[in-house]
Parts: sequence; C-alpha cells; structure tokens
Amino acid sequence: MSIYAQLQQTMDDMIDADRGILAADESTSTITKRLSAIGVESTAENRRWYRSMLLSTPDLGRYLCGVIFYEETLNQKDENGMLLPELASSQGIIPGIKVDKGKGDLPGAPGDMITYGLDGLAERLKGYRDQGARFAKWREVYPITPHNPTLLGLTANAETLARYAAVCQSCGIVPIVEPEVLIDGDHSIERSAEVNEQVWHSVFHALHQHGVRLEHMILKPSMVTAGKEADTLSPEEVADATIRILRRTVPAAVPSINFLSGGQTPEEATANLNALNRHPATTPWHLSMSYGRALQEPAMKAWSGDSDKREEAQAALLKRARLNSLARRGEYSPELEKEA
Ligand code: 13P
Repeated sequence: MSIYAQLQQTMDDMIDADRGILAADESTSTITKRLSAIGVESTAENRRWYRSMLLSTPDLGRYLCGVIFYEETLNQKDENGMLLPELASSQGIIPGIKVDKGKGDLPGAPGDMITYGLDGLAERLKGYRDQGARFAKWREVYPITPHNPTLLGLTANAETLARYAAVCQSCGIVPIVEPEVLIDGDHSIERSAEVNEQVWHSVFHALHQHGVRLEHMILKPSMVTAGKEADTLSPEEVADATIRILRRTVPAAVPSINFLSGGQTPEEATANLNALNRHPATTPWHLSMSYGRALQEPAMKAWSGDSDKREEAQAALLKRARLNSLARRGEYSPELEKEA
C-alpha cells in the first residue's frame, strides 16, 4: 500500500460520527503520580494489568476508535498472552503511540516550554509501526501568564509540531497534533481565547510551511475556557468561545478535532463536548475527544489496585465512553450520569 493509501485508510478507520480516542499514554512518571493517588505502586506489572483491563472492556470499540499508548505498553500482553495493541485492534480500536519525549524550559523565552524527541524520530516511528501503531501523538505545552506564551514560544512550539507531523506522514503514520494551552491559573476566558487563537494560527502556519497534508492529521487542542482558579463557566460559554476561535484558525480540510480534557472533571468534559456538538454555528469538522483523565479517573478509582474490582472498573470506563459518544451527537444530558 502506498504511504498515501496507508494514511487515508487510518483516517477512514478512525473517523466516524460516534467514537473518540482514549489517551492511555501517560509517561511512567505521570502514571506513577496517578497510581500513587489511589495507593497503588507503579510497577510494570501494575501498569500492564491496569491498561490491559481497560482495553479488554467488553464493547469498548462501540465508543472508541483509537487508543494512544506509551512505548512500554506496545510490548505488554494481556492475561491470555495477546499483545495489547492486538487486543485493541481486536475491539476495532486503532493503536497509536505517544512519541514525544517530554518537555523542558525553552531557553530565551522565560516561562515557555518546548518538547523533545525529534532526533531519530523517523527510525523510532518505523519500529512502532512494526509493533502495530498506526498513528502518533506529540504534545506541546503553553502556559498562560501575563507574559506567556511569548512570540518565540509560539514560533518554536509550532515549528516543532509541524516537523513532527511531517515526519509522521512521511512514514505512513497519522499525526495527532496536540498544542495544549494549560488551564492552570486564574485567567479569563477572553485571555484563553486570545492565546488559543495565537497558538492555533501559528500551528497551522507552520503545518503549511512544512507541507503537512491537513486531510491526514487530527488536531487535539484544549477547549477555550477560563483558568482553573477562575469561576467555572457554562458548557455553552465554553462551546461559544471554542467554536468562534476554531472557525477563525482551523482549515476545513482537517477532518477531526479531538479535544483533550486537561484537568476538567469527567462530567465537565462530557458536558462541554456535548455543547460543542449542539452549537448552532456550522462547523466542517468532527468534534470529538481524546481524553485521558476524563475517561480514566472513575475506572482508576473503582479499581484502586484491587483485582477483584475489574468489572466495576470496566463498567466505569464504559459509562464514560458511552456518555462521551452521546455527547458527540449532542444527545448527552447530566441526568444520564445517574444511570449505571
Ligand atoms: P487529558 O485528557 O488527561 O488532558 O490527557 C490527554 C492527553 O493526552 C494529554 O497529553
């Protein structure tokens, strides 16, 4: 199959009106924090057990089209000896891989950050592809302060995302482009709108310069919302601001926008996705999710390290996946949270 045909096939297999993506790609240090919060030691075996439990949830493929793995998971197997990427595929869930190597300070731009991992990326991608990954994820992080992101921060992060996306496409891997504007702080929704507009504009400018084919990528942005320490906004206010800025900056050629949850509660993330899909403005993209915490938190709590709680944990994951699938059609209501 040509590279073009591979990319198109992955897009066709991943994009429909109902499903979204599970981000289960926490780095070892991030998952260690999440596990320690529920009193579980972060051993390779506990991480394997937990992620294989998630992926073997019956019917999960009705609501999820893709799962993002961390490198370690590609080689891990379930209780029956099936590799986890194969387990995902057996449910109709396409396996993907986080390929960035984390972030650090961006010299020359105090307060801004930059993500590592471009060197040797093409070789790594070929290895991941042989292990079953068909798409990749790369995250750049933008804090909001009175001075950030700086012009240098915007340019350098956009350039890095575009270089990553171009390498992915040259290897037949669909890139998820994730510019995460952090919700930390007490900034207003207006300030968040201003920053997201700058970020998305600079990212699409860089993608254009690097010849990235927009039809063969997925955008994974933050929603436009006020900072975590500011007053909570209604889903309609979040949807209004998000759609206004997306329409200004994201070309119609991008097939799907899969939001991150970024610290929203599971219920908030679902209600906001629902409002985005009910918004009266015409939008050319699928509006979906690629949630980590907002899909996993209830399942992780239900499990809390007790393997006898496997079914409760799977039921908690399936519930969130199903409610988010309803939100994709604008058919979610908070009343549904009361159902099992
Ligand atoms: P959250 O939904 O928990 O923000 O995770 C999404 C993700 O993949 C962050 O890179």
